[in-house]
Amino acid sequence: MSQNHTDPIPATDHAPVESLMHEHRLFAPSAEFVAQANVSDPAIYDEADADPEAWWASWAEKLSWVEPWTTVCEFNAPDAKWFVGGKLNVCYNCVDRHAEADPNRRAIVWEGEPGDDRTITFGELKDEISQLANALKAMGVGKGDRVSIYMPMVPELAMAMLACARIGAAHSVVFGGFTAESLQERTNDAQCKAIITADGGWRRGSAVPLLKITRAALELGCPTVEKVLVLRRTGMDEIDRHDERFVSWHHVVPEQSTDCPCEPMDSEDMLFILYTSGSTGKPKGVVHTTGGYLTGVSATAKLVFDLKPDDLHFCTADCGWITGHSYIVYGPLANGATVLMYEGAPDTPDKDRFWQIIEKHRATILYTAPTAIRTFMKWGDEYPNRCDLSSLRLLGSVGEPINPEAWIWYHETIGKGNCPLVDTWWQTETGAIMVTPLPGITVAKPGSATHPFPGISIRVLTEEGHGPDIRGPKAEPASSGFLVIDRPWPSMTRGIFGDHDRFIKTYWSRFDGKYFAGDGISLDEDGYLWLLGRVDDIMLVAGHNISTMEVESALVSHPAVAEAAVIGKTHDVKGQAISAFVTLRAGIHGDEALEKTLKKHVGEKIGPIARPDDIFFSAELPKTRSGKIMRRLLRDVAEGRALGDTTTLADPSVVNALKNVYEDKEG
Ligand code: WT7
Repeated sequence: MSQNHTDPIPATDHAPVESLMHEHRLFAPSAEFVAQANVSDPAIYDEADADPEAWWASWAEKLSWVEPWTTVCEFNAPDAKWFVGGKLNVCYNCVDRHAEADPNRRAIVWEGEPGDDRTITFGELKDEISQLANALKAMGVGKGDRVSIYMPMVPELAMAMLACARIGAAHSVVFGGFTAESLQERTNDAQCKAIITADGGWRRGSAVPLLKITRAALELGCPTVEKVLVLRRTGMDEIDRHDERFVSWHHVVPEQSTDCPCEPMDSEDMLFILYTSGSTGKPKGVVHTTGGYLTGVSATAKLVFDLKPDDLHFCTADCGWITGHSYIVYGPLANGATVLMYEGAPDTPDKDRFWQIIEKHRATILYTAPTAIRTFMKWGDEYPNRCDLSSLRLLGSVGEPINPEAWIWYHETIGKGNCPLVDTWWQTETGAIMVTPLPGITVAKPGSATHPFPGISIRVLTEEGHGPDIRGPKAEPASSGFLVIDRPWPSMTRGIFGDHDRFIKTYWSRFDGKYFAGDGISLDEDGYLWLLGRVDDIMLVAGHNISTMEVESALVSHPAVAEAAVIGKTHDVKGQAISAFVTLRAGIHGDEALEKTLKKHVGEKIGPIARPDDIFFSAELPKTRSGKIMRRLLRDVAEGRALGDTTTLADPSVVNALKNVYEDKEG
């Protein structure tokens, strides 16, 4: 397996950015939009910058606290505490206070893949969460415990997250597309006391056997798990009646009392752990806490999406990712808005499914990913054009840079030219949106995420730590640099669960005392920010964060493989596709059958999203004299480009041999 390494600023990988930055098409919000916007005065940026703590405190004050805080922020890099001494409960803020104000308002509108649907009011949500929370307590789960949630996109998933928050247990949601091994690894790392799952979930017309996979995870060994709560969704499986660990949701939850007090939590108590790929094989358990996280997501939801209580907010992410945590569950519900949740795939039963859902439920906001947008473009305009999308008033994009063509298509074909489009940059670790337009203020440039959210301080730094003042009266354009955040913010991660050294090493060491995000970034002459993609070993495949090391580890765990190097190659729909270069053990011949086997093997180890698109067999991998695999060259080979500088290679002939392999394969 290759050494962990960090590439220099990826200027050559992202050559188009130079031309992108000369983008002259500008999109200002309409006068009608500005007139009704939650914020339309640009003075908000200066106000927030003048006193960031006061700015964030003004947002925290909009939440309901059991006890007020004494200090807004204590920061001793990398350790931050926000709203120190304050106590509150996230479930109370997202559910109870809205139920008290108006129990009949809609909280969740849910659409199942087979076409079943369900609307849940804030009053009903409060009762069901309370029953579920009481059931968790009866299973022995309490304040300070951790719970894995491995569920399909059904309302009960959001309820499970909120029920944990209600009783002070931290959740760790594991995406339903992950394998038994991934579930086991995450469950054990977080030392979860219980798992909440379902018999299955619908995906493209067939059922994903979640309970079966959970059973397999337990068989691999989850020593801390005492109970498994199982929801019936598909009817495909039954709980194991002879195994006392398994509890049927339908037996225990409905019989519980609807009365369950919200546990007053310290502002810095852990709300959840969410695993994300790291540069080494082992996923990182990103920790988020209570008061700061809720402040960050509620403020950004309200200003970035211009969220109003009568909005129907459709975020197409899965709750297994941070986008689902922050902008399906916590951010919109903290604002008392209604969220639309969809269980299935965008092409089931047909390629117009999202547009049918928007028409049927009259969604007002759509938040999705560039990879989805490029897919919709490829499918053709006939699908959106046959649906009524007139309810939409704002569009959002997240997950990777959005290319201007996709931006324009989204704006014109989906937004009919009159919905502001917000391209939002952030990360699992940042908890909330960090770089984004404000829809009632910003004149958008297609492809640019524009400006830091008020109160956020972003820097564009060179290797040596130099960079322009990006908010100055006249920004000096920087060619490109590293995205660094040099001021604490409330929703910042408090660490990697159980591994503080790795936290410091990954994010806080490159630029002393400042947060290193791992992305390249540029500032143009108008002061707009352009995201350039990752500068480390993380690939962004269809908006999902996958580490090259993780895929390499999976490949070398196969007995036929001696060594593997994995890169993300540019792909016009997925953003990046996974290419693997593999050397085989002596005597083994690489053929199509083995390629299939290895792809399947990686899919089984990590999950279908990590399955390589191409596997190239090669006798050698290109290495520097110090033994580092030169990924840049592999990228050149995989993308069919002229080779860059090969002088540092130990054996330059290796690359030409590889090129021949590639050409043979691609014809
Ligand atoms: C990485 C974080 C945050 C939700 C989804 C992904 C990339 C995210 C953008 C954007 C350019 C983006 C970055 C970042 N990214 N949004 N609007 N423009 N790049 O969360 O899995 O933690 O991945 O996604 O490279 O570092 P994540």
